[in-house]
Order: sequence, then C-alpha cells, then structure tokens
Amino acid sequence: MESKSSKPKYPRIVVEPPGPKARKVIEKDHRYIMQSFARWYPLVVERAEDYVVYDVDGNMYIDLNSGLGVLNVGSSNPLVVEAAAKQLRKLIHYSLTDFYYEEAVALAEKLVEIAPVEKPAKVFFTNSGAESIEASIKVSRYSTRRQYIIAFLGAFHGRTMGAVSLTASKPVQRLGFSPLLPSIIHAPYPYPYRCPFAVDDPRQCADMVIGYIEEWIFGKLVDPSEVAAFVFEPIQGEGGYIVPPDNFFPELEKLARRYGILLVSDEVQAGFCRTGRWFAIEHWGVKPDVIATAKAIADGLPLGAVVGNERVMSIRPGGHASTFGGNPVAAVAATAVIEYIKREKLCERAERLGEKVLKRLRDAMEETKMIGDVRGKGLMIGVELVRDRETKEPASEELGTVLMRLFKRGYLVIGAGVSTIRIAPPLTIDEEALMNAVEAIIDEVKRIERKEPLDYYT
Ligand SMILES: Cc1ncc(COP(=O)(O)O)c(C=O)c1O
Repeated sequence: MESKSSKPKYPRIVVEPPGPKARKVIEKDHRYIMQSFARWYPLVVERAEDYVVYDVDGNMYIDLNSGLGVLNVGSSNPLVVEAAAKQLRKLIHYSLTDFYYEEAVALAEKLVEIAPVEKPAKVFFTNSGAESIEASIKVSRYSTRRQYIIAFLGAFHGRTMGAVSLTASKPVQRLGFSPLLPSIIHAPYPYPYRCPFAVDDPRQCADMVIGYIEEWIFGKLVDPSEVAAFVFEPIQGEGGYIVPPDNFFPELEKLARRYGILLVSDEVQAGFCRTGRWFAIEHWGVKPDVIATAKAIADGLPLGAVVGNERVMSIRPGGHASTFGGNPVAAVAATAVIEYIKREKLCERAERLGEKVLKRLRDAMEETKMIGDVRGKGLMIGVELVRDRETKEPASEELGTVLMRLFKRGYLVIGAGVSTIRIAPPLTIDEEALMNAVEAIIDEVKRIERKEPLDYYT
C-alpha cells in the first residue's frame, strides 16, 4: 500500500490541549468514572480516521499508538465499517454459547488458517485480552490436568484475577488484590539490554533464563510434570517492548516438549501483523500450542480469541462460555480485518516501515546520548531512554516530559516499561507522516537532553 499525497503528513494544533471542551470532559470523567487508569496526557478524542485523531477542540494528531495496539488497519477502516454496519442491521446478537451462527464459524475458519499452531485447531471467542488469557489458563489446566503455570517477570497479561496473577510488570497492578491465583511461578525474562544475569551477550542471557528454569524452578520448587504451560509474550509489550534473544524461544520450546508443557503465546499486543508476521512467535519458527489474541483482531470492536490445537481446546460442554464471545458484529469486523491485511499486504508493509524507523532511530543514537537502546520488530518499536549510557539509569521522568511535549505538538505516543517510548502506529500510516513523527520524537529527546524549557510549539 503506497502513501497517497492527500493524506496528512503533519499534525495541526489550533488550541493548546487540553482545550476548553476537553477540560470539561475531563472534569466530568474525574467526577463519574473510577480513576483506576494511569493516563499519559489529557487527550479527549472526538473522532479518528485511519492514523489521524481529532480532539474535541479541533486539534488534529498523528497516531503512533493505535488506540493501544488496536487500530492496526487504521481507525474506522472502510471495509470493517461496511461489514459491521451491514451486520448490525442483519443480526446484532444471538449468543454462541447456546446457538449457532455462520459469522462466528467463518471467522474461526480464517483464524485457524492464519494461526501458526498445529492443525487441526479450534477457536474459543472472548471479549478482551484478559479473557483470552483466562481461557488460555483454563484450557491449559484442563487439557493437561496439571496446575502450575510459568509466566515471566515484566509480563503484562491483563487485569482480571487470573490474568493479573500472570502479570508482573508493575507492583501497582497487583497492589491490594491478593490473594491471587495460586500455583503461578514467575521466571526472569531475557531482556537483552538489562539482563537479570551478568552475561557477555544476549544469547547467554537466554541460556541463563532457561538454565534458571531447569535448575532452580524444576530443581527446587516444582516437578515439571505438574506444570501445565509456559505463558509468555513473544515481545513484552507493557514491560518495555522487549525483544528476547533469538535462541530463547527455540530453547523454551525444547524444554516444553521435553516435559509435556504447553506453550501459550500471548499475542494480544504483538499479533495481527504488528511485528511483520501474523503472529510474533513466527519470527522464531516456534509452534505454540495456544495463541491468545484480542486488541487488533476487530479494529476496535470488542473481541478476543484463543486458537489452539484441538487436543488442548477440549473443555467439555458447560465448562467454559461467555454470552458475548464471538458477537456477530465483531466477528464480521474481524473477518474484514483479516481480508484487508491480506489484500493490502500489511505484514510486509509493517516489516518494511519498521526497518526504516529502526535505522533512523539507531542513527539518532549518534545525535543524543539519552537513547540507550532501540529495539523492535515491524511496527512494534521501543526506544529506551537513559540518563547515562554507562550506568543505564532509566530516564523515567524525562520520558513523561517527552511524551507530554509530543502530545502538545500533536503526536500521540505513549510509554512502556520504566523509560521506553513505544512506537506502534496503525500499519496503514502514511510513510511520510510516520517519518515526520519519528523526527519529532528524536527532536524532543534532544531538547530534554539540552534541558530546554517547555516551549511546545515549533
Ligand atoms: C500482551 C497483553 N496481554 C493481555 C492484555 C490485556 O488485554 P485487555 O486490556 O483487552 O484485557 C494486554 C493489554 O494491554 C496485553 O498487552
């Protein structure tokens, strides 16, 4: 898909956000909505089209976060809107838990076709990422009749009680909610830039993690015959857009196969071509038993899905269900998403644009010492900010300021981990608009380094 010259290349700020209308909405939000969210900046969205977002005061922004990793095919993608609108008039709901309809079956068939799991495979529909993780925990325990799950430090799998028991990226996500699900063990994640073990290279970091699981978890804590699954993000998202070393997943797969442990790849954020493959685990040629997905699957309509080998997807009738799971409107939207991605070759586009962005950001490491690490695959890119490259002290306050400044300039970018800028635009983004946004990011990092005052407009 080539960029069309009529598309916006730059944002347009007409009133410093939050403008008067935005402030009114925010005031009411604070009055009526539980404030359990940690928002990055006061954006009040009115509408969005593809990669362009408009606020209630008439400002126009360039979207680099896809409404939190959801709008891979662009906001209100015409193919999706048309399919969903038609379906709204035809059949809005008739629960799959008790009845049948074609829209869900058609989507399930497509998901089985694209998921890199062993066939024959089956699908379970959910309404969110956390629910896909809940279902993954249940199918893993049920099919193996084992109770332990091994997850990884730094992971984010959602916030329902089961999912949050696997989540381990910030203590506040668990604070005050214990006791959580029992029989969950966390292993370190091989984070090449900050390996939890003293090592010389990233591959060694992965070896140390595998060794830790074998020697310390299996050797001291739990017999592997009691472990149902490894649940992992192929690229840690909320934890900091962390790409593990290339030997990690192949080694984890060997370990899993040796002990009959299932591999559950949480592709909620990394799936649907975000990383240049339908599912991120494909980068390492590893075949998981289960894939958990949500977010981008239906371009913003609430839907999630678990796809797994049929031996695993074997919960008996009555054992698991959800009234809205596989809603027909969301299902046709998801089918349209898959069709659009194929038609426009968005996996290939994400890979090509991602390489260009990565190269520019790596070159920028010559221009500023505040960029400690640049990593990613496709259009899932992390830029880790540090105060000092030697000590790698995280520049977390600076991250907040950079993101706020970018917002005031009209670029919607959020953070991940302690001090990482996350770049995850719609895969449809105009190439020039994307590169302009990347320049704005580099520019703001350099301004912070020079300790320039907060002059938002350029
Ligand atoms: C990797 C991953 N898993 C699960 C979730 C939870 O998804 P949801 O917010 O739809 O419950 C998220 C959300 O950010 C995620 O990034």
